[in-house]
Amino acid sequence: MDKKLILFVPIGLWLIYVITMSARHPEVRWDWEKEETKTLSFPPGFVWGVATAAHQVEGGCTNNWSEWENTPDENGNPRIHKGNKSGMACDHWNRYREDIGLIESLGVDMYRFSVEWSKIEPQEGQFDYSALEHYKDVCIALKQSGITPVITLHHFTNPLWFEAKGAFEKEENLEYFVRFAEQVFDYLKDHVNIWCTVNEPAVYTYQGYFNGVWPPGKMDPQLAGTVLKNLLEGHVRVYKALKSKKGGTRAQIGIVKNIFPFDPYNRWNPLDWMVTRILDNAFNSVALDFLISGTYDFSMPTMAKVEYENPKAVGTLDFIGLNNYSHQRINSHLNLKQFFTIEFYPHEQMTDMHYPIYPEALYRSIKVASQMGVPIYITENGIADGTDDRRAIYIDRYIRAVSRSIQEGYDVRGYFYWSLMDNFEWTEGYDMKFGLYEVDFITQERKLREGSRRFIEIVEGSKGD
Ligand code: FCB
Repeated sequence: MDKKLILFVPIGLWLIYVITMSARHPEVRWDWEKEETKTLSFPPGFVWGVATAAHQVEGGCTNNWSEWENTPDENGNPRIHKGNKSGMACDHWNRYREDIGLIESLGVDMYRFSVEWSKIEPQEGQFDYSALEHYKDVCIALKQSGITPVITLHHFTNPLWFEAKGAFEKEENLEYFVRFAEQVFDYLKDHVNIWCTVNEPAVYTYQGYFNGVWPPGKMDPQLAGTVLKNLLEGHVRVYKALKSKKGGTRAQIGIVKNIFPFDPYNRWNPLDWMVTRILDNAFNSVALDFLISGTYDFSMPTMAKVEYENPKAVGTLDFIGLNNYSHQRINSHLNLKQFFTIEFYPHEQMTDMHYPIYPEALYRSIKVASQMGVPIYITENGIADGTDDRRAIYIDRYIRAVSRSIQEGYDVRGYFYWSLMDNFEWTEGYDMKFGLYEVDFITQERKLREGSRRFIEIVEGSKGD
């Protein structure tokens, strides 16, 4: 009897665990033949947009990223794919008028872009008003073309002086971020009503402090927990500071959160489930929970534990910006050096990035973001597709996922495609072609991709609703 118990109890526990996990975290899959027969519909006032970020398109940036691009790793290899450097990028700084024409011809309502802190405050406390004037001109030109500007204050890059101070590793540095945000707000508030404080705090943290592939190249889970906490706290302080300013109450201020659903490689493997849940917690839930409750609890067993409380975090979102591209599938290993790898099934159709086309991920992420109880904007979604043979289907299916979630009652107010044009894709360099417009980086010529026509069609179609 006892011997039997020894055998049955673990088997029973294993079954209960994997069945419960599977039921609680289903990997949603739809019948696409059926989905495609449904009519797309969007509520009145639903907005369409495209997105970019300063370092990826403007050119001429001197910041922590340009430094990173120019510093080889410990083996003398370039940090960026093929040794690419952002350099002149799309020369958007000079060509913004032409680019606004391109945005206009897509028929969209909004343009989300970021302001480059290192250009606005190149030295600590010294603001370059000509840079602020530049962004004001961009906003005015957008409005003249009937396009509403949406500004991101922090999109991964830091001025060198801020990086040298330890950037977001130290809570005392947040005062610099708040001061910068206030300057930008004072200068542009008459032209801009929608503000994103921080873009993808968990991605900045994960890549720079866990994976070590982005600046500052650290692999320190405990520090990662602190950096993520400080970025979120930075959001809270910027929100409060801007709200208390003249024009603050009317401004719509939110954070941009990347949500990647995590799925186990083997649904019967409890270890895959455990790692999946730890990663989902660290990179998706911790940030959202903090903004819901004011309690921060970053926990990666044996690696990191960071706890923090700030009740003032509650109510600091007028909206949530949601970025989603796909999901992550986790295969765990009994190896402390590499206890998991990200792997996909052979039948999953890949994008050019290391993740597949999985539109249900956007739907799942909308569900997660809806916990915040505020309107949701899809602030980024798009595909890297150099051969342009998957773009149209990606656009069609992900937007169907948005339409379906709205029909089910989720409060999604807008959708921004990433990206307006090909650009510098961080460590992936220039090989990842996310653009609705293809860019020739020698001539700076822009050309609409065939696959992008599906986006234009959907936008046009929705206007008749
Ligand atoms: C997001 C970033 C954006 C771009 C896209 C592809 O994580 O916010 O800058 O790199 O991915």
